[in-house]
Amino acid sequence: MNEQAWKIVEQEIQRTRGSHLRELFAADPKRAKKFTASAAGWTLDYSKNRIDARLMKALVALAEDSGLRAGIEAMFTGEHINATEDRAVLHTVLRNFSGKPVFDKGRDVMPDVLEVRRRMADFANRVRTGEWRGFTGKRIKYVVNIGIGGSDLGPAMAYQALLPYSKRSLKCFFVSNIDATHLAEVLREVKADQTLFIVASKTFTTLETLTNAVSARAWLIGKLGSDAAVAKHFVAVSTNAAEVAKFGIDTANMFGFWDWVGGRYSLPSAIGLSLMLAIGPANFERMLKGYYEMDCHFRTAPFERNLPVLLGLLGILYHNGYGCESIAVLPYDQYLARLPAYLQQLDMESNGKSVDKDGNPVACTTGPIVWGEPGTNGQHAFYQLIHQGTRMIPCDFIGFCKSHNPIGDHHAKLFANFVAQTEALAFGKTADECRAEGVPEALVPHKTFAGNRPSNTLLADELTPKTFGALIALYEHKVFTQGFLWNVFSFDQWGVQLGKVLAGKVLKELTADATPALAHDSSTNALIERFRKAYSK
Ligand code: F6P
Repeated sequence: MNEQAWKIVEQEIQRTRGSHLRELFAADPKRAKKFTASAAGWTLDYSKNRIDARLMKALVALAEDSGLRAGIEAMFTGEHINATEDRAVLHTVLRNFSGKPVFDKGRDVMPDVLEVRRRMADFANRVRTGEWRGFTGKRIKYVVNIGIGGSDLGPAMAYQALLPYSKRSLKCFFVSNIDATHLAEVLREVKADQTLFIVASKTFTTLETLTNAVSARAWLIGKLGSDAAVAKHFVAVSTNAAEVAKFGIDTANMFGFWDWVGGRYSLPSAIGLSLMLAIGPANFERMLKGYYEMDCHFRTAPFERNLPVLLGLLGILYHNGYGCESIAVLPYDQYLARLPAYLQQLDMESNGKSVDKDGNPVACTTGPIVWGEPGTNGQHAFYQLIHQGTRMIPCDFIGFCKSHNPIGDHHAKLFANFVAQTEALAFGKTADECRAEGVPEALVPHKTFAGNRPSNTLLADELTPKTFGALIALYEHKVFTQGFLWNVFSFDQWGVQLGKVLAGKVLKELTADATPALAHDSSTNALIERFRKAYSK
């Protein structure tokens, strides 16, 4: 981070540290208005944070003095900012509706992007209308996406989020885990002659995905009695045509994307094919337009009104200024149940880095731990710790004014809880308030809430493809903002490699016919020996 600018932020934190949100709100009736910003159908109320105007100014100056504006332009214009892999970072072109070209290595990438989307839409329409049929002539009723990480979490989360917009006669399943249970349980739910498998893998070399795909293919051939069935029941999404062909999927049934789309940023690419099948090309495009609106906002809005930048800066305030290790993401919408899991990969795989862009140890901590559950479930599980525990956990509350399921007064009750939690966190309950309620003295310490616990409130009218797309882009750019300020490479993920390599080695030892000479540590050796004994029985 820019040292000079960060020093000023720290001074402002010192100055404001003693203030309580109770006092800050009492002192300024316009506080909520002052600290609210809107874009792309979303309103961010960040007034319930430990901030005042001077601290916010210092945070915005941190972004400006660190060169964030130029950093954003470098991403949008295709500079190879993923330097350790020498790649551009151009997921924003997947939803570029400007009509303007975007170049990578001197070549406009837009025609390819539009062509793949056109092919996806054509395919999705054919499946949805029943023109594309299975090997025995039956309509496709089930879609099974086989992928992991970015090739799973995005479409799985989005399918659930946009279920109200989906064709209910087409059911999607997502298989990711190499644990055969995942595949086996899904195969129990579907019928081979009505199932379309999408093998989704950027590299098409991922162990989990290929293992699941091989088993799914064997199951399909076993059920339908012919290798020829594969052509009607398997398509692929990948950047690696050679491996797709090697697997036995005709590349005519492959939907491509490019190395400049990171796995965790790939939902708007062909990786979203299962989602497009479910919600249709028109809704998919509405989602992309939501992304685009947030992209434009991020690229052009002044930082003091820029939602992703504000979220990023507030995160840095707590992470680096107050030492908070985690943030909770709390969607008050059951359709967004998988959003926290999706954001875990987006944020933690991007910014879980401990060396800076020059290869030196980072000077400050990076990458918060992201977790959460939908409200109101979380309230009856872990909110106790957020309200009265010893740690400060900044929260993002995400909610909607309207429900897709307006049954009785459910939604008003949900919304009441959504609002009340942020109020309780910010203002708490004093010992005097407890006493005034007649709480016995011995219980006063237990029933007192310190308050002053920060939260952001993100509110939209309704969960639609457009507001959904904008929300995902908002978090993508928040992660970008933080990674940029921490000066880390947010678009590689070398940290997942070592475990993969070691697993390959252990696998050989587990399954070797002759007892292998084990040269691991004593713990690893013992675990391998125990498995070998059980495996050979
Ligand atoms: O876990 C590492 C990772 O490379 C993720 O970044 C990626 O989303 C996932 O594996 C799946 O990779 P692929 O799409 O190449 O199968």
